[in-house]
Amino acid sequence: MIQIQGLSKSYDGGQSYAVRDLSLDLADGETLVLLGSSGCGKSTLLKMLLRLVEPTSGTIFVDGRPLAEREPIEWRRSIGYVFQAIGLFPHMTVARNVGMGLELTGAAIATRDTVVREMLELVGLAPSEYGHRLPQELSGGQQQRVGVARALAADPRYLFMDEPFGALDALTRDALQQEMRSLKERLGKTIVFVTHDIFEALTLGDRIAVLDGGRLEQAGPPQDVVGHPATDFVKDLFGKPAEQLSAFRDVFE
Ligand SMILES: Nc1ncnc2c1ncn2[C@@H]1O[C@H](COP(=O)(O)OP(=O)(O)OP(=O)(O)O)[C@@H](O)[C@H]1O
Ligand SMILES: [Mg+2]
Repeated sequence: MIQIQGLSKSYDGGQSYAVRDLSLDLADGETLVLLGSSGCGKSTLLKMLLRLVEPTSGTIFVDGRPLAEREPIEWRRSIGYVFQAIGLFPHMTVARNVGMGLELTGAAIATRDTVVREMLELVGLAPSEYGHRLPQELSGGQQQRVGVARALAADPRYLFMDEPFGALDALTRDALQQEMRSLKERLGKTIVFVTHDIFEALTLGDRIAVLDGGRLEQAGPPQDVVGHPATDFVKDLFGKPAEQLSAFRDVFE
């Protein structure tokens, strides 16, 4: 259980705030989507959760204990993360990229090989076909899958994903969203997923947290943020034509 209380971050000594007085809970096993337009503070919030950026004020608790008291490297080992830019190592094969986390923790080679194969299969890449390739020999969508496989390889408690499918074409993105949906059901991980795409948010979120200008506008299940918007901002955001939203009927049942 992660509890965020009154969290703020200013990069300029308090003149402006990337995240402002934000409080939000993350239950074990749920997928929380952070939704908002460019610059609203999504990545900053994720980086504070990763302890790559320290808050200006406020506290994050993990299982009741302040995150600031934990050793950052040890904390990050419990998290698989996929950044906005995929960040695969260009000179290493796909297999080595996926196994990198395990290599760093000193896992035996045989264990590593087994896990790498399992993870590649999980994300729909045949290990015998893709394992030995370099990242540049894969399409953008395939590289993104490798990023997801790498994040999952160490079997982390948490999965943090920052617009992982943002740079992909609509069809590939749809396919990966569906895959992500079935993955999250099979794996039961606690996931924070960042996007500026409302359809992606509706497809993947057990709950959606809508951010604007660093502030939390509303957090709740998809049917709540759509059906009972707490602010005009949320109302306008989901004020899409009914036929567009009706594609998500199954989300609301
Ligand atoms: N290292 C930094 N130094 C100074 N300002 C920063 C830094 N990182 C982010 N910001 C600013 O903080 C605000 C929030 O940025 P952030 O990256 O969290 O937004 P975002 O919601 O992830 O946007 P996007 O969807 O474009 O990725 C922006 O105004 C940004 O310019
Ligand atoms: Mg960002």
